[in-house]
Amino acid sequence: MKYRINVVGLGYIGLPTALILCDSGHEVIGTDCNAQLVNELRENQKSFSEDGIGELYNRALNKSIRFETECVDADVYIVAVPTPYDEVQKKIDPRYVISAVQSVIDICHDGSVIAIESTISPGTIDKHIRPLIPAGRDIELSHVPERIIPGRIIRELRSNSRTIGADREDIAQKLKSIYGSFCEGEIVITDIRTAEMTKVVENTYRDINIAFANELTKICRQADLDVYEVIRIANKHPRVNILTPGPGVGGHCISVDPWFLVGEYPGLANIILAARKINDSMPEFVLERLYTVMKENDLFDISRVGFYGLTYKENVDDVRESPTLQLITSMKRHIAFGANFYDPYVKKKIVDGQMMDFDEFIDRSDIIVVMVAHDQIKESIDRIKDKIIIDTRNVISLDNVYHL
Ligand SMILES: NC(=O)c1ccc[n+]([C@@H]2O[C@H](COP(=O)([O-])OP(=O)(O)OC[C@H]3O[C@@H](n4cnc5c(N)ncnc54)[C@H](O)[C@@H]3O)[C@@H](O)[C@H]2O)c1
Repeated sequence: MKYRINVVGLGYIGLPTALILCDSGHEVIGTDCNAQLVNELRENQKSFSEDGIGELYNRALNKSIRFETECVDADVYIVAVPTPYDEVQKKIDPRYVISAVQSVIDICHDGSVIAIESTISPGTIDKHIRPLIPAGRDIELSHVPERIIPGRIIRELRSNSRTIGADREDIAQKLKSIYGSFCEGEIVITDIRTAEMTKVVENTYRDINIAFANELTKICRQADLDVYEVIRIANKHPRVNILTPGPGVGGHCISVDPWFLVGEYPGLANIILAARKINDSMPEFVLERLYTVMKENDLFDISRVGFYGLTYKENVDDVRESPTLQLITSMKRHIAFGANFYDPYVKKKIVDGQMMDFDEFIDRSDIIVVMVAHDQIKESIDRIKDKIIIDTRNVISLDNVYHL
């Protein structure tokens, strides 16, 4: 069965979801409060690059997807707006979800279903969203969290398993038929609170495991051991799978969602809090490594240091909460200014010292700190082989490279 679906919030999650729903035959209207974004989408300009999104976008335009700044009447609303956390209280800041749901409630007809895809902390729907529905109105709520990762969004939209949290079986089945029109993975039905908790738990699990690898890095540095060799050998154990250390954790999910549990359960979320602190300390650890390497090489001029990569992961353009941006904040605290930055995927200038050209970046840098393992740097080994390199991602296959 085909439905009229209004996707509210057209960012990294909402836009691909709207496109794939349209591609699957539903009548789709994408709504975003950002008028400039809506205009760009109407004028055939995609807001971010992602494997496979261009084809999907062109097909959706042909199938008459519409982009609007206001919500419109529909059978089902999918809400994919940001859910940042309040940095002081360490709790979810639900204001975007509240405002988006409110604008749906203002115009929707009775019998509509609102599926919240935004990541929310356990209990958010009961505490902040349910009370928005006026007494006597028949509007169904549900939570359908998203698991995709930038860089593989379209593929994972189709292949990942999905969770649908709903109050009623018939609503869950309706949503299952919609998500099942493009999702080939298992679709699991549960209640709303379990769906909320599951999503946050998944990202917290990742954060804790990354923190373990990062803590090992610090221990091995002090013990003068090669952490990569230690992990490589330990992972031969049939039940051990230690992740790869790195310069920190960024992105809109793993570095944010664990705080929801810390904020809601402050006395209980102890490992979770420790993991957050370890991962947040890594950009500072990279700086300490840099200062040691500079001293070792009699280099004292920060303007001859280049940080490669501004995004939070390789081969994407998403810079949110990225370790390099966290590192820049640390540098400012240490009153260290003048370093060079470069990222092939970040086309707009977002930080001081950002070179827009790879050649210039290389020319200006005696030391290159590889913060992100974009394919470009792995394919440019010849061009950087005479530099002093600190490789925080363990991807540069040259002798005499410094590691974390
Ligand atoms: N990006 C990811 O990899 C990822 C993965 C899984 C889950 N999530 C979750 O999905 C949600 C959305 O994330 P995103 O990365 O797509 O965010 P985003 O910032 O890329 O996009 C959100 C969009 O919502 C719009 N918006 C905000 N308030 C609105 C309102 N009231 N009405 C209409 N539009 C509104 C913004 O203008 C923006 O375009 C978040 O809760 C996030 O945690 C993100």
